[in-house]
Amino acid sequence: MKIILGPASEQLGQELAKLVNVETVHVASRLFPDGESYIRLEGELKNEDAVIVQTTSPPQDTRFMQLALIAGAAKRNGAKSVTAIVPYLAYARQDNIFLQGEAVSVEIIAGMLKAAGVSNLITVNVHQEKVLTKLPFPARSLSAIPLLADYFKQRGCEKAFALAPDEGATYIAEQAKKILGGECGYLEKHRDRYTGQVAMEKKTLELKGNTVIIFDDIISTGGTIVAAAKILKDLGARRVYAACVHPLLINNAEERILDAGVEEVIGTDSVPSHVSKVSLAPLLSKELAR
Ligand code: R5P
Repeated sequence: MKIILGPASEQLGQELAKLVNVETVHVASRLFPDGESYIRLEGELKNEDAVIVQTTSPPQDTRFMQLALIAGAAKRNGAKSVTAIVPYLAYARQDNIFLQGEAVSVEIIAGMLKAAGVSNLITVNVHQEKVLTKLPFPARSLSAIPLLADYFKQRGCEKAFALAPDEGATYIAEQAKKILGGECGYLEKHRDRYTGQVAMEKKTLELKGNTVIIFDDIISTGGTIVAAAKILKDLGARRVYAACVHPLLINNAEERILDAGVEEVIGTDSVPSHVSKVSLAPLLSKELAR
């Protein structure tokens, strides 16, 4: 096995290769003046199981194109199999026709990856697991929530309340609760499909004086966490933290979240940023060792 260091996840790929103790292949990449992607593999892959590590956070389209080009180059250079580790799988939220005339984006991008040579995909906390059944190759989604919860436990947040911002994310709060050893719950969230605006309903939760950690798969615009934090403050929570697997943090999302009373935002290196304090490497290395 060799690990190919996708340009979007070079550091994570290096850490993973160290844990799994395999050689890495570096990728030279650049953009042509007109915006087209160029890649070149700087290593041998003949008869190897190639594992590409490449997240697809913004700029998603460029990163998908790089991933497809790398997969194609790996195949052409004799790789036996090509596994794509895509910690943040962009387009996965458009897994259905919600409004007439839309595309099922995730099916399209997966078809592109398959055509390029990807034979297997590993992702992390994909928005809906059922989306994986629509992909044309075997795919698994791992959960990084226990790693995030453990990070908070090590920092003295044992027994903190684990909150999911909507009912669909209840499983996330439950996974965190197992590590933190406190209670968990969820809020009621509604999103307008046309405007993207988030509305949240207040619920009866006993949170007076508590430390609460909001766990979510993605923080994008921050709207969800801002709405949740306001409710938590109204309910008397003493300290509120936000944890997510994929810290996209579009525009001033982090600033808005902190302004809403959240003490800190913590994410993983699925999307490398200054809040990425938790590495996915241990989780991914266990998966590769299976
Ligand atoms: C949606 O259901 C997801 O789990 C996240 O809550 C959502 O993507 C976060 O987006 P934003 O930060 O823009 O509210």
